[in-house]
Amino acid sequence: MDGSEDRQRVERTPEIGVSGRAKPEVADIAITRDEIAALVDKFYDRVWAHPRLGPIFSSRLESDRANHLVRMKQFWASVLLRSGEYHGRPVPKHKAITEAQDVDFAHWLELFHATAHDVLQFETASQVIAKAEQIAQSLWLAMFGGVGESPPSWLKGPDYLAKHLQGEVREIS
Ligand code: HEM
Repeated sequence: MDGSEDRQRVERTPEIGVSGRAKPEVADIAITRDEIAALVDKFYDRVWAHPRLGPIFSSRLESDRANHLVRMKQFWASVLLRSGEYHGRPVPKHKAITEAQDVDFAHWLELFHATAHDVLQFETASQVIAKAEQIAQSLWLAMFGGVGESPPSWLKGPDYLAKHLQGEVREIS
């Protein structure tokens, strides 16, 4: 894919935590809104078709799938383009997903990793995946972490599921 003419190079994109607030660290990610839209659309097609993740999403968002895609495009534009258009609170939303197991993060990241590489150029995909892994670590800690716990090393790819399966699978109690 080319798209270099409308590619938006953001020289100083701040880290965005799961709260959506900017942090001082910077990255340099060249991605367009069309690429973000393609990534989100394709990723959630795969999520909905996944045997574990699909029911988690469809049970909550069956009639609201289009709206979820809009929110996720806003979220990723805020993270990657510093657009500031996402104002949600992902942590409480995810903490409410009590049927999720931590292996679901491995499935989520595997799908995200594959989709990013299908949709984006290699360097852009690698940068976007690094952001997703960072945010996944925060969400994992919020959902599964004990006091003083660090995120598990398998949240750093690309062999999330294989590495996870060497460890322990836990459920939210
Ligand atoms: C096990 C992994 C995950 C599962 C099962 C999961 C599931 C879900 C579900 C079901 C929702 C809709 C909640 C609702 O509206 O009631 C949601 C929303 C969302 N997810 Fe995840 N998620 C996972 C990982 C992630 C990761 C790694 C990210 C970011 C990189 C992420 C970002 C978001 C955002 C931004 C929302 C929108 C929250 C809002 O409505 O403002 N999720 N997720």
